[in-house]
Amino acid sequence: MRVAGTDYLTIRFEGESVFMIDQNLLPFSFSIRECKTMEETCDAIREMTVRGAGAIGAAAGFAMAQAFIASEDPDMAAERIRSTRPTARDLFYSVEKVYEAGQQSVQAAVREAQRLAQSNIDAARSIGKFGEPLIQDGTRVLTHCNAGWLGFVDYGSALAPVYMAHRGGKSVFVYADETRPRSQGARLTAWELSNEGIDHTIVPDNAGAFLMSKGLVDMVIVGADRIAANGDTANKIGTFEKAIVARQFGIPFFVAAPLSTFDLSTPTGEGIEIEERSADEVNYQTGPDKEGQMHTIRVTNPGSDAFNPAFDVTPAEFITGIITEKGIIKPDISAIAALLR
Ligand code: MRU
Repeated sequence: MRVAGTDYLTIRFEGESVFMIDQNLLPFSFSIRECKTMEETCDAIREMTVRGAGAIGAAAGFAMAQAFIASEDPDMAAERIRSTRPTARDLFYSVEKVYEAGQQSVQAAVREAQRLAQSNIDAARSIGKFGEPLIQDGTRVLTHCNAGWLGFVDYGSALAPVYMAHRGGKSVFVYADETRPRSQGARLTAWELSNEGIDHTIVPDNAGAFLMSKGLVDMVIVGADRIAANGDTANKIGTFEKAIVARQFGIPFFVAAPLSTFDLSTPTGEGIEIEERSADEVNYQTGPDKEGQMHTIRVTNPGSDAFNPAFDVTPAEFITGIITEKGIIKPDISAIAALLR
């Protein structure tokens, strides 16, 4: 990824520490947070210093390796890491893989965690390659949340085809849904697209139907946190609404995700646990004033309750195709089973 012309990874493991771009500070300041222990890495996942299915998958693998390095009880460590965020499949996948490798040796656990992070980069790059031909010169893409390079170790899922098309000389325009309450679209996707020099505009979350009804959107591409065996897909809250509207107007709706996001042990979306986060995320917003001083302010009626489900599930029937590192598949049980075989 490019930040002011320099290449960075969202997250990396060096020595015994995990280094990650602090996504809570973006786009107002850019800083790297160091997590020296498994506990610190878990805090960073829960607080969303690092976020996005692919990136928290890498973080979870690194945290498990840190537990082995520190000779912590691996079962307790695995439980602790799994308890940070319940929805993204990649987090559980990485814990399983590094836990298994750690039965051999500490070095094997570290190697496996690094391998998983590298395969996250490779998968994202291939998703970009397979998704790129879907984008024509002049295509206008709507995306929700941030499924770009910040949500992965690099490249991203939903945005990877956009980056490839742009680098290949196609003109692409992106509508970035703001993605309340944490504003991953308005803050992170918009910042990424600016860094890549891609034409875009931030739109309110409730603008999707208006834009699509006016013929302003050619396709929707979103990421995924967990894909059930039948293709039902959990992604950031609000994704399902975009899928319904896209179907209403005959607009293709693509999900982009690596194989590590598929969960064959969950038959349908019904079985996906949806994280509920603090009401404070709905009630308060943090940002700089005109002088650059950061403030947290209340934006809702004091005294009212707020409910904050972090994800929703889009049924497979609303999804045109799933872009993976092995190609684009139909979201149905036999195509998914064949892909993972
Ligand atoms: O709560 P977040 O910001 O971790 O949620 C992220 C998303 O929903 C992304 O769209 C998803 O992880 C797919 S791509 C990284």
